[in-house]
Amino acid sequence: MQLSPHKRENVLPLPVVLISTVSKAGIRNAAPWGNITPILRPLDEIVLASWLRRDTLDNIRETGEFVVNVPPATMVEEVMICARNFPPEVDEFEEAKLTPRPSTAVAPPGIEGSIAWMECRLVEEITREKYALVIGRVIHLEVNDRYATAEGNMDLDAARPLCMVCGNDEIRFTYPVDAGRFAPYSEMFIRRS
Ligand SMILES: Cc1cc2nc3c(=O)[nH]c(=O)nc-3n(C[C@H](O)[C@H](O)[C@H](O)COP(=O)(O)O)c2cc1C
Repeated sequence: MQLSPHKRENVLPLPVVLISTVSKAGIRNAAPWGNITPILRPLDEIVLASWLRRDTLDNIRETGEFVVNVPPATMVEEVMICARNFPPEVDEFEEAKLTPRPSTAVAPPGIEGSIAWMECRLVEEITREKYALVIGRVIHLEVNDRYATAEGNMDLDAARPLCMVCGNDEIRFTYPVDAGRFAPYSEMFIRRS
């Protein structure tokens, strides 16, 4: 079946994160984001795509700081409250009953109960006609001990990180399960004998 090119998200599962920011006036904001990815392993930058009319984008522009919270699938209702188009003067932590978690290196708080917290500083914004690409550097990263092994790897069964697959008229929420195949990074390199 051929699909229209703009239905890329119908065929590409995405992570769902909550980005927390604070406005210059001190109002806390949280918004779900699917268009976000680390830029190449093992560097420390991430990139997210934002429509131009987003309080999140305004706050990042104003303060240069944001936190990427990785929610477990159990937080999906809070995620969808944050997806509503609240005016900038509304505290979305209060609306979604999110518990703030003091950050270590940036002013915006993280969200308690998340699987992990990436505290980020704005590096560069690439502004296009309809959207902006925001490149941020992760300057402090923590994973919730509840959802990680002693080595700092995610315990997928416990964490169930929220993901999404878009349909024509809906978002289907999901989480990854182990496919039973492990690959050491060294498997990517050809051994010369
Ligand atoms: C699962 C999900 C993923 C989303 N991903 C994005 C995204 O990648 N970029 C974007 O600009 N908006 C995205 N949105 C829409 C924003 O979260 C939504 O418009 C929100 O109200 C923006 O809040 P803000 O104005 O407080 O920043 C997403 C919404 C949902 C529900």
